[in-house]
Amino acid sequence: MSVLLEVADVNVHFGGVRAVDGIDFDLETGCLYGLVGPNGSGKSTLLGALSRMTNLTSGRLVFAGEEYQTYSPAKTARMGIGRTFQAVRLIPGLSVLENVMLGGDARTAGVGIFANWLLPWRTRNCERSCREGAMEAIERLELTGLEKRTAGMLPYGTQRRVEIARALAAKPDLLLFDEPTAGMNREERDEVGEVMRSLRGQGLTQVLVEHDMQMITEVCDYVFVMNFGKVIAQGDPEAVVADPLVQEAYLGKRGSKNATA
Ligand SMILES: Nc1ncnc2c1ncn2[C@@H]1O[C@H](COP(=O)(O)OP(=O)(O)O)[C@@H](O)[C@H]1O
Ligand SMILES: [Mg+2]
Repeated sequence: MSVLLEVADVNVHFGGVRAVDGIDFDLETGCLYGLVGPNGSGKSTLLGALSRMTNLTSGRLVFAGEEYQTYSPAKTARMGIGRTFQAVRLIPGLSVLENVMLGGDARTAGVGIFANWLLPWRTRNCERSCREGAMEAIERLELTGLEKRTAGMLPYGTQRRVEIARALAAKPDLLLFDEPTAGMNREERDEVGEVMRSLRGQGLTQVLVEHDMQMITEVCDYVFVMNFGKVIAQGDPEAVVADPLVQEAYLGKRGSKNATA
């Protein structure tokens, strides 16, 4: 197995808050990783750092051999790192297809006004490939038939699936999911879990932030547990979930119960 992402001594501090505090790990190509921890333990901040939407205080990030801790979020997305957000971030007035096509744009660089004018055929080709990529993602997430529906009018669980489709439309090599199943029922969760397993079968590397331990043990190959910005345990999901240190963090004896995500 080859290393796809190297995270070396990454820190993200907000004033006195060490949201991410010296994180070190490697992610191997084609594995599905779980990232768990109590609210406020730094999971979303870490995903923000990996996707370059949050600045690092210090540390090094290497993706497919390329050091990228100083890259912009757009350049990071073009390199092949995609993410979904903890709260739904669709454009509610646009259709499902339009929302998903926006994801495809993340990887087609430099198609601006001048490119449209100078290279109209290239813009047309981009739009065609964007639409094809979007339709493929829509099919994967079982959203076929809903392409023309207004995204903001759909049930919450469906909107979350549209978000996953949008992230997939960019054809990432690494996909970071921030609580993608929050607010979903068991059946919807299982469906999302199945999509992740099948993407894994195609070699996509994924990180899943998730509170549902059943989903973590059923879906993930390996799990990291965070608390207070640090990785406090890692390994095989079943063993990690049974670890007394992890249970203690979750029971809130040491966790920050009142912290908000
Ligand atoms: N932009 C920010 N400014 C200041 N503090 C922040 C910011 N984002 C997150 N934090 C703090 O960093 C810590 C980790 O938050 P977060 O990464 O959202 O945790 P999690 O996703 O594990 O619930 C929390 O104490 C939170 O209040
Ligand atoms: Mg969070």
